[in-house]
Amino acid sequence: MTAGVRSGLWVTLEGGDGAGKTTQAAALEEWLRGEGREVVRTREPGGSEVGMLIRDIVLHHRGDIAPRAEALLYAADRAHHVETVVRPALARGAVVIQDRYLDSSVAYQGAGRVLDAAEVRNLSLWATGDALPDLTVLLDLDPAAARGRLDAADKPFDRLEAEKVDFHERVRAAFLGLAAAEPDRFLVLDATRSPDELARDIRDRVGAVVGDAAGN
Ligand code: TYD
Repeated sequence: MTAGVRSGLWVTLEGGDGAGKTTQAAALEEWLRGEGREVVRTREPGGSEVGMLIRDIVLHHRGDIAPRAEALLYAADRAHHVETVVRPALARGAVVIQDRYLDSSVAYQGAGRVLDAAEVRNLSLWATGDALPDLTVLLDLDPAAARGRLDAADKPFDRLEAEKVDFHERVRAAFLGLAAAEPDRFLVLDATRSPDELARDIRDRVGAVVGDAAGN
């Protein structure tokens, strides 16, 4: 994070719906707790009380939401979440493991809803005072395979999940483009690999960063 004093570590997980972010966040949390670290596991949208209200609108409102309004709602959730949850956790030295952050807005609202990517990113940077994670894990998965996983889970689709496959193909391409533009921040993994293999790669990378932060 570029603004503000911090001593913790901030890891975000990104990828299409059904890529396995929740499984990997849980595995990373378990490992870090075993290492004796304080872990704050959180998500966007909905990582705060206000965020839960916004999450309900963006995911479950019946009917259209104008693309710019949708982008602003995610940014509002993000502003409150970073200020009230993420910054305090980092300031006291915790590891924050976060399901989705601003890269999701650039991919879903930018490429998916076809808003200008730089504008969407700048909106989130304004909302958060330029906060960027130390590491972003991108679980990359073909939308057709992801759709199979979501169907198998047999849960009703939310507003974004219900979008057509070409929307999700644009989202995937945008995530890969973001990762290519910031190779130091991103770790890109093939989400068709086994959960254990993915967890090991994520642990290796986080372990290296935690080691660096401790001066090892
Ligand atoms: P998520 O919590 O990952 O869904 P689930 O609970 O089903 O795993 O994300 C909710 C949806 O919100 C997801 O389809 C992606 C979308 N989203 C955006 O469109 N923009 C954003 O900025 C964020 C954070 C999420």
